[in-house]
Amino acid sequence: MGVEAYVVGGYVRDSILKRPSEDIDIVVLGSGIEVATKVAKELDPSIQVKVFKNFGTAMFQFRGEKNWEVEFVGARKESYRLNSRKPIVEDGSIEDDHKRRDFTINALAFSLNKKNFGQLLDPFNGVSDIESKCIQTPLDPDITYSDDPLRMMRAIRFAAQLGFHIEEKSFDAISRNAKRIKIVSKERVLDELNKIILCPKPSNGFDLLEKSGLLTYVFPELLNLKGVDTRNGIGHKDNFYHTLEVLDNLSLHSNNLWLRWAALLHDIAKPATKSFFEGQGWTFHGHEFKGAKMVPKIFSSLKLPMNEKMRFVQKMVLLHLRPIVLSQEIVSDSAIRRLLFDAGDDIDDLMTLCEADITSKNETKVKRFLANFKLVRQKLIEIEEKDNIRNWQPPISGELIMQTFSIQPSRQVGVIKDAIRNAILDGEVSNNFDDAFEFMVKKGSEIGLTMVNK
Ligand code: CTP
Repeated sequence: MGVEAYVVGGYVRDSILKRPSEDIDIVVLGSGIEVATKVAKELDPSIQVKVFKNFGTAMFQFRGEKNWEVEFVGARKESYRLNSRKPIVEDGSIEDDHKRRDFTINALAFSLNKKNFGQLLDPFNGVSDIESKCIQTPLDPDITYSDDPLRMMRAIRFAAQLGFHIEEKSFDAISRNAKRIKIVSKERVLDELNKIILCPKPSNGFDLLEKSGLLTYVFPELLNLKGVDTRNGIGHKDNFYHTLEVLDNLSLHSNNLWLRWAALLHDIAKPATKSFFEGQGWTFHGHEFKGAKMVPKIFSSLKLPMNEKMRFVQKMVLLHLRPIVLSQEIVSDSAIRRLLFDAGDDIDDLMTLCEADITSKNETKVKRFLANFKLVRQKLIEIEEKDNIRNWQPPISGELIMQTFSIQPSRQVGVIKDAIRNAILDGEVSNNFDDAFEFMVKKGSEIGLTMVNK
């Protein structure tokens, strides 16, 4: 077609970093849409090309040795977009396009042109910044961040993801412009937040979000955990740093984004439940209940999904103290049954979260806790094998209770159902139909009911 084209951005960066990537961005000096259509046709006429006219972009997916996602865009130059409708030919250079990109490490290109196919273009020394692990902007950072304030979050995300540092002038600009993150859509911010949470050591990202001032705008409830109150010379631990430590610990054992969210939110209600009592010190009574109640509001304000993921996080926050309490005392079977009943299939995730929650500096204490947790885990397995509580279904239905005593739906049905459940969880009645039925008849007669048909 006689147009120049280049692979740009993340794909080039990642190929230098030897990180696998399936997304290819191609800049053409001409119409991205026309080139995309032609390329797709050449590759496989059945490929569907998605065209975004307003943005002048087009993309398609292509299954080869990888699941490629290829996006095409025309080279852009600010003045061109403002002043002219003519296609860029002479002056819309790849250099113009590079200047408008976020970081030098992303302002790289591979040529796709016959004359220099495969040649690397690196006008802002991006390769040297990759080598020295440095994130900086091609232009004055105030301009680059002002073009798209989400780039402030991206800088921190790349730093956390790749283990890079942010160059000082750039970091100062982020701190100066932090407030402007407010004009960015919450969905885009969340996308970066999730990527930070999924980093190998997420605290690196959250530390930078806090230091730059961005955290105030993107996740104020988390920032609210920061700080230590002291009364009569007694302080409590800083719950912000404790939370980050828990998240880091957890990240060593789980890649589950929602379990990581649970780690971030497990102590979220500590500021709201904090009290000081003479002789007792600081307490955070009920922070697990209050925290679970706060989860939907936080999910909604951050645009996280209000579905079973939210309910999972809520459940983890609510139950996060249960295993630790068990591990401190002699573990009774009924306590284990109740934990299995409440946690259900999420019991393993809950245990992983609770183990991550041990952040004491006292090694002997940590060792003791972990050993106790091992015991709790062992007991969980034994009891589950014996009693099948994990996906517990009541052996006696409300329907059967009503039939047996010939009663209408009423409070009595609930009383009997609860009594059966408690008796099973406490180990007084075995988890099977016959034993539960016998117990139901006994319980019914205690509250003045008689069995009508045998
Ligand atoms: N880009 C930019 N400013 C943004 C977003 C993206 O300049 N706010 C540019 C960068 O050059 C980036 C390219 O567009 O490399 C592609 O963006 P994207 O696919 O979002 O990011 P990647 O760099 O590919 O990295 P990742 O896939 O990890 O998000």
